[in-house]
Amino acid sequence: MLTFARFLLVAILTGLFVSITLISAGVPLAEPARTPDLSTPEGVYTAACAACHAADGRGSPLERVGFDIPLPDFSNCSFATREPDGDWFSIAHQGGPVRGFADNMPAFGEALTEEQIAMAIEHIRTFCDDRAWARGELNFPRAISTEKAFPEDELLLTTKIAVEGDGAFVQNVLYERRFGAANQLEIKVPIVGRENDPNGGWNAGVGDIELGVKRVLIQNPNAGYILSVTGAVLVPVGDHEKGLGKGTALFEPFVTAGFRLPRDSFFQLMVGGELSTDTDKADHEAFYRAVVGKTFTSGRFGRSWSPMLEILGATEFGHDGAESQLDLMPEIQVSLNTRQHIMANFGVRFPVTEAAHRNTQVLFYLLWEWFDGGFLDGW
Ligand code: HEC
Repeated sequence: MLTFARFLLVAILTGLFVSITLISAGVPLAEPARTPDLSTPEGVYTAACAACHAADGRGSPLERVGFDIPLPDFSNCSFATREPDGDWFSIAHQGGPVRGFADNMPAFGEALTEEQIAMAIEHIRTFCDDRAWARGELNFPRAISTEKAFPEDELLLTTKIAVEGDGAFVQNVLYERRFGAANQLEIKVPIVGRENDPNGGWNAGVGDIELGVKRVLIQNPNAGYILSVTGAVLVPVGDHEKGLGKGTALFEPFVTAGFRLPRDSFFQLMVGGELSTDTDKADHEAFYRAVVGKTFTSGRFGRSWSPMLEILGATEFGHDGAESQLDLMPEIQVSLNTRQHIMANFGVRFPVTEAAHRNTQVLFYLLWEWFDGGFLDGW
């Protein structure tokens, strides 16, 4: 009995001694149970995303995550603000491949509820809180003629062919590049072809080049509207004699606006003028363009289709008074690849007024949002 009591005492004292030694050496005795808090945006992010995307959203070092796919920097406003929540939700729910990204970005559709995924994204949004940057929610689909208010990094190739009459065609190359939080530079180079030789010959060449700067004035992602102004100059490099250019410089100021409507619908407007520097060669013109449309998605996360209707009006103020014209253009835009940064649009432009003198035109564009990846990425 006595030996057992003594044994017990020694055992307790030894245990105490070892414990005190370990504690003073800073070794934890037992891992505190880590119950992830999945009820707050930060809690969900910390539990599910931070291992790879890091607590500050800039991405953990590659040697720590164990793969060599670079992690996005969510604190970089230029990158983070242009993606709408809906796209990020799709990626977090389905995993990277749903938008042509690596499968190192896992799918959380089964591990987390939809509310928790939305909370994780809400937390990602806190890494860039500079409201000057236009939000991707206001980046409505690009119509063929009505320009967007949203500043873009994109390359747009638009082909316009008259299906009646002289068969004229125009191939426009439009390059747009963002700078700063709310500005964009644009350069448009047209290749024009027309059969204006009485003997049936063709004239083709570079038309008048347009240089412009766009600036967002107001935007509100919650209310769903954005408004920008653009100042552009048409530089008369096209051969006026051959009908490829206007032969004089024009100034083109215009306003663009975009409005979100219920159920993935939108309305966009572009109103402006062309001020001629030589009214013997080119008339002053006022124009307005408007587009309504709606986006449909194949399945829940798939290809997007946006049928639209454009109304295109212009009034020329010539020496013998004003002359107005109006056209309608039904069109459909579709995303071509999985990442959805390569799009196509096809439309037919019908003259409504003076239809006897003016052509019906077929239009087509190919759009590459080059900031989101190379042309061959994400198919
Ligand atoms: C196992 C590591 C890992 C975890 C955990 C992880 N991600 Fe990712 N995530 C990645 C990688 C890698 C990429 C980049 C993929 C690429 O560029 O191909 C990525 C990309 C993304 C993107 C796309 C950004 C873009 O380029 O548009 C979003 C959005 C995203 N993650 C959200 C989340 C959210 C939300 C969570 C938590 C619910 C999460 N991720 C958890 C690895 C991870």
